[in-house]
Amino acid sequence: MAKKIIIGNWKMNPASLKEAILLVSSIKKGKAADKNEIVLCPPSVYLSDVVKILSSGKHGIKIGAQDCFYEEKGAFTGEVSPIMFKTVGAKYVIIGHSERRALGETNESINKKIKLSFKKGIKVILCVGESERDETGQYFRFIETQIKSALLGINKSYFKDLIIAYEPIWAIGKNAQKSCDPKDIKEMSLFIKKVLAEISSREIGLKATVIYGGSVDVKNATQIVSEGEVDGLLIGRASLDAKKFLGIINSVSSI
Ligand code: 13P
Repeated sequence: MAKKIIIGNWKMNPASLKEAILLVSSIKKGKAADKNEIVLCPPSVYLSDVVKILSSGKHGIKIGAQDCFYEEKGAFTGEVSPIMFKTVGAKYVIIGHSERRALGETNESINKKIKLSFKKGIKVILCVGESERDETGQYFRFIETQIKSALLGINKSYFKDLIIAYEPIWAIGKNAQKSCDPKDIKEMSLFIKKVLAEISSREIGLKATVIYGGSVDVKNATQIVSEGEVDGLLIGRASLDAKKFLGIINSVSSI
């Protein structure tokens, strides 16, 4: 099986640095060497400490940020730029997560954040996803608009550093009833590749990295990856429990 990418989005967790160190240490200790790419996205305040823990050993775990700002530096109180994340060791940044969109993030700011991140050499995990599915399939148009506006004016030479995470909002978090059906994930993944092909080239579309997020756990991870035909997973809750997260990594490795 081709290399997969498994990303843990810790969101605003855990509540203390001590717990964050414990979590990353347990993941590092339990992870066997394999070909898949593992990325942890802790809250930015813990990033340097997590990087320090990961600086030794042959675990191959990489680090990402959960958001960034679209200016390099300056008078932007509270913001952190992609270049700053890069200097402390982040290789990836999540942009456009639905939880940030719910707080006012727009397609326009997402576009600017992606542009600067690419320019500074950070790989982008662009999140897209509909809040509900309608009978007539309008959600496909919604996803298309999210992708096209996020990538507007971006040179396609950067698309090799792009991961698109399909995260239907209705499948995310503890209030979600269930994860998305693997056959619907497969359909959406193909659709996303088609949209990318339209704005770049058929080859780029075919090679695009599309992953899934939303209520992924140890029980459904392999089925989502194999039947959903995605290139990886973006995991929220289950990434906060080292045993569960390692269980997902191991089960995907065994496909
Ligand atoms: P859950 O895995 O907790 O549903 O969260 C998914 C997510 O939003 C990852 O970015």
